[in-house]
Amino acid sequence: MAKANIYVTRMIPEQTINELRQFADVEVNPHDRALTRSELIEAVRGRDAVITLLTDSVDGEVLDAAGPQCKIFANYAVGFNNFDLKAATDRGVILTNTPGVLDDATATEAWALLLAAARRIPESERYVRAKKWQGWSPMAFLGQDVDGKTLGVAGLGRIGKKFARKAAAFDMRIIYTNAQRDLDFENTYDATFVDKETLLKESDCLSLHLPLLPETKHYIGEKELSLMKPTSILINAARGPLIDEKALVQALRNKVIFAAGLDVFEDEPELAPGLMELENVVIVPHIASATIETRLAMGKIAVDNVIHVLKGESPITCINPEVLK
Ligand code: GLV
Ligand code: GLV
Repeated sequence: MAKANIYVTRMIPEQTINELRQFADVEVNPHDRALTRSELIEAVRGRDAVITLLTDSVDGEVLDAAGPQCKIFANYAVGFNNFDLKAATDRGVILTNTPGVLDDATATEAWALLLAAARRIPESERYVRAKKWQGWSPMAFLGQDVDGKTLGVAGLGRIGKKFARKAAAFDMRIIYTNAQRDLDFENTYDATFVDKETLLKESDCLSLHLPLLPETKHYIGEKELSLMKPTSILINAARGPLIDEKALVQALRNKVIFAAGLDVFEDEPELAPGLMELENVVIVPHIASATIETRLAMGKIAVDNVIHVLKGESPITCINPEVLK
């Protein structure tokens, strides 16, 4: 059998690429940037499998460019809002993601944002680096306590659960919203299922762990922000469009809420006008899963999915299992 031909749209950990090379000819995007749309369309032509990133929009046009021999598009991400599921399923192309291995890394990063925003860490670091520090000050950089407060979790999937569990270190009361109640979780973590309005009104810290769907777009907008406490902190390490970013800029500027910590943005890498100028927001560039161990584990799943499919076996984490029937 001729060696399979695989394209990887951006360098991922080398160890994982090497594993793939034992099975196939592998070509990797040589640039340290996402491919443009036309580069992506050219790059996928004639491949048997493609490993993609969230920054690659995979729709019917891209799938058709790859051609009918192409069996799998394996995303190097747990999210897959860059995939047109129907277009792939219609063409019998398998789609996979990397669930499970990045839950802790993502939940921990959401905590890092929460603590950084509550205690104004990046803002006070900027102050020191700007050589403005004159010595210990009783009233400088006063933040919000986290210990003993109410933690709101919107979305109790794998990552939301990990995030909530870590609150035990801070003796927090946990309230959550989710499509379904989770009684096991409630009993184990003394958590309370609430409606969205209660979540907004009672959370001292509110972290979003929802998937991006038409019905979750702008889950937080002007109205929702106005229900939140002026001392509250909003965290988003899920998907940018869950928050109406323009409304958030207004709310942060007018101190409607105390602070926000954002890993993701509505139109990455662009930021809503004014966001960058605000001191009460922690901004990081979509790095929730960015640890050496986690990225290696994600690479391993993406590669294993490709190898399984090229050997004629089922992938391990298929997101359109209808194609396997
Ligand atoms: C990152 O955002 C991912 O979906 O893996
Ligand atoms: C601060 O350093 C304190 O001693 O209160």
